[in-house]
Formats: sequence, structure tokens, C-alpha cells
Amino acid sequence: MTLLRPNIAAMAGYVPGFQPPDAERWIKLNTNENPYPPSPMVRAAILAEVGVAGENLRKYPDPGSRAMREAAAQLYDVPVEWVITANGSDELLNNLIRACVGEGEEVGYVHPSYSYYATLAEIQGGRVKTFGLTEDLRIRDFPERYEGRLFFLTTPNAPLGFAFPLAYIDELAGCCTGVLVIDEAYVDFAEFSAMELVKRHPNVVVTRTFSKSYSLAGMRLGLAVARPEIVAALDKIRDHYHLDRLALVAATAALGDQVYLRETVARIRATRVRFVAGLQALGYSVIPSQANFVFASPPDRGGKRIYEALHARKILVRYFADPVLAHGMRITIGTDEEMSTTLAALQEIG
Ligand SMILES: Cc1ncc(COP(=O)(O)O)c(C=O)c1O
Repeated sequence: MTLLRPNIAAMAGYVPGFQPPDAERWIKLNTNENPYPPSPMVRAAILAEVGVAGENLRKYPDPGSRAMREAAAQLYDVPVEWVITANGSDELLNNLIRACVGEGEEVGYVHPSYSYYATLAEIQGGRVKTFGLTEDLRIRDFPERYEGRLFFLTTPNAPLGFAFPLAYIDELAGCCTGVLVIDEAYVDFAEFSAMELVKRHPNVVVTRTFSKSYSLAGMRLGLAVARPEIVAALDKIRDHYHLDRLALVAATAALGDQVYLRETVARIRATRVRFVAGLQALGYSVIPSQANFVFASPPDRGGKRIYEALHARKILVRYFADPVLAHGMRITIGTDEEMSTTLAALQEIG
């Protein structure tokens, strides 16, 4: 007799990007963290919440994340009932599958995109259907009527960095009979968001993370905007105290400081422009990026060779052995100094 469900016993499990224990000795460009600290208001809010003696930590947090949801609702111009918070956007992706996909039912997504979708589908016992990309970066053979229970659309795409045009996403939403989850983890670095589609299509959910643009990967924060029926369903199946007190005040403060967000994002975008120019000067091909990373291939298309040579120099980037990605690497945009060091290393590696 086995104690486990067969799909859990058989699955390999998701492998997150490497988090070196001696992170300070690396230039760490492998998990798309922000090189700048969060808004000073975040630090102030956390310290105020801790207080002198940590008195507040004795008490449970607000199970309804009210202040954070109100801040998000104001920012995205939707009623508060349209917002749900999460312990990282991963929690939302997980709960969306749990809420919408029964055993044997279909979950679709683009390949390549975020490989955690596959793991979540496996846990649930869902059936996965992947769609490739065409040369002009559209979804290959997407049907006029897509009947999978849920489709994850990562835009900007990770790990490639390009964004699908808004009119195209709008069209996809109309094709899906199930839920279309627009995973906008990187959207603050892009030129536009698809948030307005939530108001136009009852089946659209937009997910956001605080791990990238808000520099809060360490706090585990995310949110989604969707119709209240979907939000209410997600609300039923989440852990009731999924966000701790410090995370809640951090998120609320971060949402409240859009000036800081815009400044940080502008710095990273400016560094991205300089880094891409430097890569191109070395003969790399680079997919135009709307994110805080770029996908770049060396002239000999030997992604692994460059990854290993950078690794030997204590520069950590993300290499994917997947045949459609093995020709290049995903490189997070760090500070100007980190990217100059990386370019100098790439030049030396040749
Ligand atoms: C496309 C995409 N979606 C979601 C996530 C998860 O983000 P979070 O840290 O909010 O769980 C990531 C993290 O790298 C990502 O790349």
C-alpha cells in the first residue's frame, strides 16, 4: 500500500532558482530580484508594526488584508471586492488551479513560460497542454475557442521578456471559455498592462507580484484583480492567515509609494537599455525585453558554456537545459555596476 497519491509519488517537484548561501559574494542575476531596496516607507512601516517590544506580533494579522486590498483597489481603480492578496503570486497560481481545474481537466500555457504552472497542474492531477510560439512571438495554433479550464498567459513572458500586444490578449480572452490568467509578474517594467481587460471579460484574472518591481521577494507578497465571484472563490480556499502582519504593512506601504516605484523602475529600464547595447556590441542576440531581465544568446549559441564561465567568475545567471532555451541565458538586470562587470566578463569569455 502506498501512502501517497500516485501523481505526487511520481512527480519530480519544482526546482527554484539557486539561492546561494553566500549571496554577498556573487553578482546574483538569476532570479529577477530587484537590485535596489524597497521604498523607505516599507522599512518604516515594518519597524512601526514591530514596535519597541514586538507587542503587535502577539496578535494574529487581519485575515482579510483590508488595508492592503484597499490600497490596491485605489491604485487599479476597481472595487475592493475585486482584489485578493497572496503570499507571493505563486499562491494565487496554485489556488486558481485548485479552484478551477478538476482531476483530468485541462490547463494550458505557452512554452516557454513559467514552469511552475506545470508543477501545480501535476499536483492537482490536471492535464497540461502547451502551445509553442511563432517566429513573430504569437501563440502557435491557439484555437478560436479554447476549452481548457484555465490558461496561463505570462506577459511580459518569462524567460523571454517580450510582451504580447494588448489587442492580442483581448482577443485571447474572448477565445477562452475557461479562465484566462494574465500573469503580470513583470508588468511594471513594461510599456502597458492588461489590467483593463478584467473589466471587459468576466473570465480574466490578472496576477501581480511584489517580488520584482517592489523589491519585496523576501516578504512573499502578491495580489490578483478579478471579478468578485472569482475573488470570493479564491478567498474560500486560501489559508485564512496567509499574510503576516509585517508583510501586510510592507505591501500597503509599497503600494502607497508609487513615486519610488516609478523611480526604481526607470533606473532598471535605463540599465536594461545600456546592457542590451553592450550585449549586442559583443555579437549577442537579445530579444527586446519589457521585463527586468533579458534573454540573450551568444554568437555560437552555447548558453551553457557562457553560464558556466560566468559561474566560475561568481556571476550567477539562469540557464535552462530545455532545448528551446539552451542556446541562451536569462540575465536579471542589476545595478549599472553589476551589468558593467558582467559585460566585461562576457567580453573576456568571448
Ligand atoms: C512569471 C512569474 N510568475 C510568478 C512568479 C512568482 O512570483 P512570487 O515571488 O510572487 O511568488 C514568478 C517568479 O519568478 C514569475 O517569474
